[in-house]
Amino acid sequence: MHHEISDHVRDLAVAIAPDARRIVDVGCGTGYLLRALAQGLPDAVDMVGIDAAPGMVGAAVAKVADPRIRFAVATAERLPLAGGFDLVVSSTSFDHWRDQRAGLSECARVLRPGGRLILCDIFSPLLAPTQVATRRRKARTPLRAANLVAESGFVDLEWHSVYAVIINAISARRPSG
Ligand SMILES: C[S@@+](CC[C@H](N)C(=O)[O-])C[C@H]1O[C@@H](n2cnc3c(N)ncnc32)[C@H](O)[C@@H]1O
Repeated sequence: MHHEISDHVRDLAVAIAPDARRIVDVGCGTGYLLRALAQGLPDAVDMVGIDAAPGMVGAAVAKVADPRIRFAVATAERLPLAGGFDLVVSSTSFDHWRDQRAGLSECARVLRPGGRLILCDIFSPLLAPTQVATRRRKARTPLRAANLVAESGFVDLEWHSVYAVIINAISARRPSG
């Protein structure tokens, strides 16, 4: 299922940011999405996978043979990257972030002006009751997620249905200039 979702996210990324050269995948797991993006985005020269779990990063490193792709153990809330990226993607990781607001601020920080964010996870009005039970007020409805993305400095927010009813993606842009 994660691969099928990642394939949708890859297609979205290719449609939204076809010229992306520098790409980050936050919560990359074993790196499937980055490997797919390496094929879909031929202009890509620097692709970085970030994951909080050393085991995931170890598996990702073992699977990759493309010199454009690198990985690091780190969290969304503290990305070990300077700015200048064209595209930040994240697939089925956001709901795990301890501090989603801090993570989104980091995504905005590492993007160049005009750079794109694609954030895919469980987002549905059907999940409103589950938000009440989450600690740290996780964003699981489109309304709450969109507010958080906008408050993190992004513009041009747009929703895309990805998988089943509850897996959706929001795309957004860091303002130019
Ligand atoms: C369900 S897996 C999805 C992995 C991958 N994106 C995929 O679609 O196969 C969620 C991933 O998010 C990572 N993760 C959880 N919290 C994180 C955080 N705060 N920062 C970065 N990665 C995180 C986990 O270690 C895990 O690899």
